[in-house]
Amino acid sequence: TDRYCVFGHPIGHSKSPAIHAAFAEQTGEAIEYTAIEAPLDDFAGAWRDFVAAGGRGANVTVPFKEEAYRLCDELTPRARRAGAVNTLLLMADGGIRGDTTDGAGLVGDLERHGVALAGARVLVLGAGGAVRGVLEPLLEAGPASLHIANRTAAKARALGEDFADLGRVSGSGFDAVEGPFEVVINGTSASLAGDLPPLPDALFAPGATAYDMMYGAEPTVFLRWAQARGARGIDGLGMLVGQAAESFHLWRGKRPDVTPVLEALRRSL
Ligand code: ATR
Repeated sequence: TDRYCVFGHPIGHSKSPAIHAAFAEQTGEAIEYTAIEAPLDDFAGAWRDFVAAGGRGANVTVPFKEEAYRLCDELTPRARRAGAVNTLLLMADGGIRGDTTDGAGLVGDLERHGVALAGARVLVLGAGGAVRGVLEPLLEAGPASLHIANRTAAKARALGEDFADLGRVSGSGFDAVEGPFEVVINGTSASLAGDLPPLPDALFAPGATAYDMMYGAEPTVFLRWAQARGARGIDGLGMLVGQAAESFHLWRGKRPDVTPVLEALRRSL
């Protein structure tokens, strides 16, 4: 049995083992997938031990995504740009290939919901690692424009400049946001604290979609705020299952069906 795992710290509440067990059952792949709490000061050692014990690949979550990136011998272009990886694959020569599948998970979830990114005016809230990790796939989906708004305006502007070769992308503070937008994606960690970025009321175009990269048993503050202003709200649970499916595909060459796994996970929240 090939072994895979997710590394994080803490890792106790990770849904990844359940998601990958469901993928394995669905595709008939005989894999074992566990959650491993790596020590904060020795991620590389935890990976080495895992490989020595038969590990073939891993997911990586907070706070190790940047360290995992530095460990890689080979990176996909989107991982190189993200500066972080969430998926490691042991290559035949013992080297490590790194990818970041969060953006593909996000774009795939929007597609599954029938939300068009092509030609859309897109607003992304936040300019941290989570946002950097999804910008390349978002821009490749062909929006008319993509604006990044952040509490710290300089970070949004710098991020916009980093990705300017991939499309019409700009950055600002929240106060300089000018709608309307067809798609608004919350990638700040503000929801965790129950906070809402200060946004203008007239943000959404008719029929707009609000997407929160966070999720929970109840709609997030951001989604409640958006729905009260006429937008359709979608939370990030489908992105979570989608990024897992992309990782699974990288490891096993099979693409699991996200929908039944997502439905079961939703019922368990
Ligand atoms: P992550 O890996 O989740 O992206 P991060 O790199 O620390 O974590 O980035 C957190 C993001 O959430 C940043 O965009 C941060 O804004 P700043 O760059 O101004 O710090 C944003 N954020 C966190 N708490 C927030 C709050 N209460 N209101 C608005 N934005 C917030």
